[in-house]
Amino acid sequence: MRIERFSSQAALYTRAAAIVIEAKQHGATTFGLATGGTMEPLYANICKAAIDFSQCISFNLDEYVGLAATHQQSYAYYMHKHLFHAKPFQASYLPNGLAADPQEEAARYEALLQQHPVDFQLLGIGQNGHIGFNEPGTSFDSVTHLVTLEASTRQANARFFQSIDEVPTQALTMGIQSIMRAKCILLIAVGEAKREALERVLAADYTEEIPATVLAKHPNVIILTDLQERGV
Ligand code: F6R
Repeated sequence: MRIERFSSQAALYTRAAAIVIEAKQHGATTFGLATGGTMEPLYANICKAAIDFSQCISFNLDEYVGLAATHQQSYAYYMHKHLFHAKPFQASYLPNGLAADPQEEAARYEALLQQHPVDFQLLGIGQNGHIGFNEPGTSFDSVTHLVTLEASTRQANARFFQSIDEVPTQALTMGIQSIMRAKCILLIAVGEAKREALERVLAADYTEEIPATVLAKHPNVIILTDLQERGV
């Protein structure tokens, strides 16, 4: 793992966009994408950059169960709003949150992922150390699956909804093993709320109780953060 610390978020997101652009220049064609507040400034920078994804494909990490792609808090909607409207891909895949059988949908999505290995994966991190919607306790061997969201995750995401009651209780997410198959991973951790989770990852405290600690076993991970080392 390589960590780069920034004293300003502006500098961090300039660097993040440069890493994505460089990955594409070096031949990445399949991109794993994330949503959430962390990714918004990155996508804003990418939208302004001279980069064309029309020959690339994308896979999102996750989607809420029960939300249509037209719902303003669905991740399909988010992706269109923040990236795809300006930078369309040849094909963009997200799990279908309205699938009649979510387990079957998870299997379908995993099969698609296995057909199209991800070259470059973007990740945010939850306060509890989740990646995608893989909550603490998820097996490191997991592939795309249906999850019940932790109360703390629903609480953290309630800011995007009118009230916490509207936050879905389930989601479909790429599994830890699905994420780890990516050739290169860029994780962005911004803000004090992410400090504890990030410190556990950097301490390579390898435990399924903090899903992101699996990254210590990946050969090609870059972490960008605006958090400075404690006491520095
Ligand atoms: C989003 C995702 C999540 C987020 C994480 C951080 O697709 O998979 O793991 O990256 O919850 O969310 P923010 O960026 O909103 O703090």
